[in-house]
Amino acid sequence: LGLADEGRRRIDWAAQQMPVLASVEQRFARDQPLAGMRIGACLHVTTETANLVRVLRRGGAEIRLAASNPLSTQDDVAAAIVQDLHVPVFAIKGEDTATYYRHIGQVLACRPHITLDDGADLTCAVHAEHPDLFDEIFGGTEETTTGLVRLRAMAASGALRYPIIAVNDALSKHLFDNRYGTGQSTIDGILRSTNTLLAGKTFVVAGYGWCSRGIAARARGMGAIVLVTEVDPLRALEATMDGHRVLPMLEAAALGDVFVTATGDARVLDRQHFERMKDGAILANAGHFNVEIHLPALQEMAVEIRQPRPSVEQFVLADGRRLNLLAQGRLINLSAAEGHPSAVMDMSFANQALSVAFLARKGKSLAPAVHPVPPEIDAEVAQRKLEAMEIRIDQLTSEQQKYRTSWKVGT
Ligand SMILES: NC(=O)c1ccc[n+]([C@@H]2O[C@H](COP(=O)([O-])OP(=O)(O)OC[C@H]3O[C@@H](n4cnc5c(N)ncnc54)[C@H](O)[C@@H]3O)[C@@H](O)[C@H]2O)c1
Repeated sequence: LGLADEGRRRIDWAAQQMPVLASVEQRFARDQPLAGMRIGACLHVTTETANLVRVLRRGGAEIRLAASNPLSTQDDVAAAIVQDLHVPVFAIKGEDTATYYRHIGQVLACRPHITLDDGADLTCAVHAEHPDLFDEIFGGTEETTTGLVRLRAMAASGALRYPIIAVNDALSKHLFDNRYGTGQSTIDGILRSTNTLLAGKTFVVAGYGWCSRGIAARARGMGAIVLVTEVDPLRALEATMDGHRVLPMLEAAALGDVFVTATGDARVLDRQHFERMKDGAILANAGHFNVEIHLPALQEMAVEIRQPRPSVEQFVLADGRRLNLLAQGRLINLSAAEGHPSAVMDMSFANQALSVAFLARKGKSLAPAVHPVPPEIDAEVAQRKLEAMEIRIDQLTSEQQKYRTSWKVGT
């Protein structure tokens, strides 16, 4: 709790960049849409999450929070949430896996009506270990791509027992958070941990999804030569026409100075790639789990592991080459920097807050499936963000509206 003052100052700083969430807060304070609701949350414990927690509290909810990654917790923020918002937080940066899951159990001990998740560890814990909670749970939300992959797999196999709102899939979330948020903050994490010069470097991005597009664009903006690897022909084509060179990872491995994985897949960088990499190569992951860079292979190949800087482990191979792994292969932007800028989390978390209110309103009426964020919430978030940025747009005239919905007028 001695860290709470510092956390509070940083939470207030973030709040200045979150006007959409602030407008939701006003409405929640007035309407109390979450009165009597217990919420169990498993989210990265960052300044932006603290602002979301405050908004949910203002809406009348009782909340418990655990981290959604062992390395992403900002301890000063955790302290401030406990002290100022009186919300129990179960998280400490660098917690081991057993502690991480114990913390999730402590969140579930509040018997939530609604779960908020980022990566689906909380939701999976309910399903695997606490089926007694199903009676009380209305539904949950999921923040990220990997969490939705897991939850859709649960739904397909008939295992999913309560409805999930796919916050990640809202356009006002992934078009901005995954692309511009991950794009900027991944570069931020690499620079904070290595202080490397990107200009002129060969920068390999694995995947060309929402996150990796942003990372590739920002790396190019810093003067790097960007290579992209993909498994999806359409995305490979898109990367090519965006002006990046696309090639298999086995070939890229020998060329890269910096490697970033953001695929949601496992073993994207593995032994056969490490064997070809240049001395001094930097390896970072921006995908949700620490499985994209296959650490067991790297550990087996190393004759020595050094720690030249706080977020850098240097694996010295038998032939003397040094491969530099950042942030233990965990989300680089949240482990070695502060995660996405608040201005982009503003939209993601406005979607979260409004989706939670939607679930509370729906009660037990939604089917146990993965549901989209209601389109009117998505549109409202985008509209409010534009207003906050003082950007005005044109309106369709009635003539244009008619033209756009008719088939009769041609050449
Ligand atoms: N770091 C963060 O703050 C942050 C933010 C949002 C999402 N994420 C995570 O980042 C990951 C990617 O999310 P996204 O929204 O970009 O997903 P996405 O589905 O849009 O993109 C993933 C891409 O990776 C490609 N891919 C899959 N396996 C591959 C392989 N072996 N080699 C090369 N390419 C491969 C897919 O074809 C796809 O194009 C997920 O794990 C997601 O949860 C992280």
